Amino acid sequence: MSELRVTPLHPVLGAEVGGVDLGAPIDEPTRAALGRALGEHLALVFRNQVLTPAQYLAAGAAFGAPMEQHYSQHNMPDHPLIGLIWHRNGQEPAEQWHTDHTNRERPPAATLLHGVEIPEAGGATSVASMRAAYLGLAAEERQRLESLTTFNGLDGHADTRAEDRAKYGALVEHPMVRTHPVHGSKAVYFHISKTAHISGMTAEASRAYMADLLDRMIRPDIVYRHAWRKGDVLVIDNRATMHRAHGDYDRRQSRVLWRIIVEGDRPRLA
Ligand SMILES: [Fe+2]
Repeated sequence: MSELRVTPLHPVLGAEVGGVDLGAPIDEPTRAALGRALGEHLALVFRNQVLTPAQYLAAGAAFGAPMEQHYSQHNMPDHPLIGLIWHRNGQEPAEQWHTDHTNRERPPAATLLHGVEIPEAGGATSVASMRAAYLGLAAEERQRLESLTTFNGLDGHADTRAEDRAKYGALVEHPMVRTHPVHGSKAVYFHISKTAHISGMTAEASRAYMADLLDRMIRPDIVYRHAWRKGDVLVIDNRATMHRAHGDYDRRQSRVLWRIIVEGDRPRLA
């Protein structure tokens, strides 16, 4: 097993992992340790990684099997399991808080982002602990959320191709609070623009409630803001976080991240 060093980057979430070369094979004990570290810290940062697409996919597999993404127009042509986040060809920064691909029955456990081209200033990725957000709610509201589910699809996502909507657009139901399969803790779980509606609520009331929740729950103290350096790999635990991009950079400069999402469990509340 390699000498893993896990150093917290923030009081609530986020840790830097040293002593691992993601370009080399990752043995089973290291894989297990990384899985535990992810469940505990929710965002892991690996610095100075030099990776080919194939090496990056192999590293991603340490966190779960890489999954197909539904923005197929941005897939890397020779490695379609890697999506390009690059804000070109009509792609806009995802500035709304969200967790990825909730329209899947088994949404991705984790999202990996690799910083390939980084602007001089701005363009960070922020990650919020939805475990801390859950604990910050009043007991009555935690109870209310535990009784609700969301119905997730791709309606309104005009930036997806018809073929992707046909494959991945059918509504999928998820609990609004889910129990982390590794850590055992609870976290608030929803995607405001993938949710067609919350159980027993109209689409409009659902949207208003989720917007209000985001406003109240995501306070600066539960957010780790990742300022990118070229060569970084950021691994985000989608089961207990939300994330967003910051579009506050000079668009004449290039920001290119390679994205992998990896298979997770069906969300459940235990
Ligand atoms: Fe995302």
